[in-house]
Amino acid sequence: MTLDHALTADALTLGYGERTVIDGLDLVVPPGRITAIVGANACGKSTLLRSMSRLLAPRSGQVLLDGKAVHRMPAKELARTLGLLPQSPIAPEGITVSDLVGRGRHPHQKLLARWSREDDEAVAEALAATQTAELADRSVDELSGGQRQRVWIALALAQRTDVLLLDEPTTFLDVSHQIDVLDLLTTLNHTRGTTIVMVLHDLNLAARYADHLIALAAGRLHAAGPPEQVLTPQTVQAVFGLSSEIITDPVSGKPLMVPRGRHHDLARQDLARQDLARQDLAREDPVREDLVPEEPAREAMEREVGVGRLS
Ligand SMILES: Nc1ncnc2c1ncn2[C@@H]1O[C@H](COP(=O)(O)OP(=O)(O)O)[C@@H](O)[C@H]1O
Ligand SMILES: [Mg+2]
Repeated sequence: MTLDHALTADALTLGYGERTVIDGLDLVVPPGRITAIVGANACGKSTLLRSMSRLLAPRSGQVLLDGKAVHRMPAKELARTLGLLPQSPIAPEGITVSDLVGRGRHPHQKLLARWSREDDEAVAEALAATQTAELADRSVDELSGGQRQRVWIALALAQRTDVLLLDEPTTFLDVSHQIDVLDLLTTLNHTRGTTIVMVLHDLNLAARYADHLIALAAGRLHAAGPPEQVLTPQTVQAVFGLSSEIITDPVSGKPLMVPRGRHHDLARQDLARQDLARQDLAREDPVREDLVPEEPAREAMEREVGVGRLS
């Protein structure tokens, strides 16, 4: 059995009520690779992920997994191949961490043999990988945002699906846990060949961790390809309306986006200084300059004649 599953969107249009959110989108998720989806708030990233995991039926077009339309596949069959960590998942009240992560095994359970050793192993491995084993007996309600997020990632891992979709998996995590989670997903990709598709807000982490970057703007595909091709000042401007500079990340060698903004821009300050200097030069009057001594000489003169400031 090959792990490589073909996941594509074909003229996909999605929306809610009257409103169209994704409009005629064609896209290919490279099998066995890591894909990051980036785009401005409310551009339809979560909507797209929900539709890819069959939670939202297309208005027209389709999402195909290995050539089959996902919204016509039985839920359990799809769940054995493709898992989704939604953006704001809701845990049943009072559920413990181990019970919640155990729910990731449901798609694999047969009617009679309900819980197998493989299920135990999968849960233990997922807890260990996300450093949540020590939380196993705690109630999910009482965890911090970051702990809870890691538990949800454990649930996604416990499903052991060949394709894993994650909607902002690093939200609520401090920077070191963000790196941990992205490293963990990379290891999963390298060791098991899991196809990973994640929505990330941090463009620089997206460029570093993804093999393939998808930039959405206003419900359409703006650009897709390797980060080196997609993360350009033009894309950042078109997708986020932000002026930026792209440099090379000294750690990974990947593109690194440095936003401009109205303050802190050395190049702009430099230009402004040059501009002021030019204005000064234009105002300069050589005759008066001869008459007015330079500062130290002028102070000496003031002391000598015993008067106040000459001006
Ligand atoms: N369940 C829903 N009902 C109606 N509108 C929705 C629903 N979910 C999302 N939307 C709207 O669809 C648009 C895209 O939302 P979403 O896919 O969540 O964006 P993103 O994840 O890119 O921030 C937004 O304008 C949002 O308000
Ligand atoms: Mg979202």
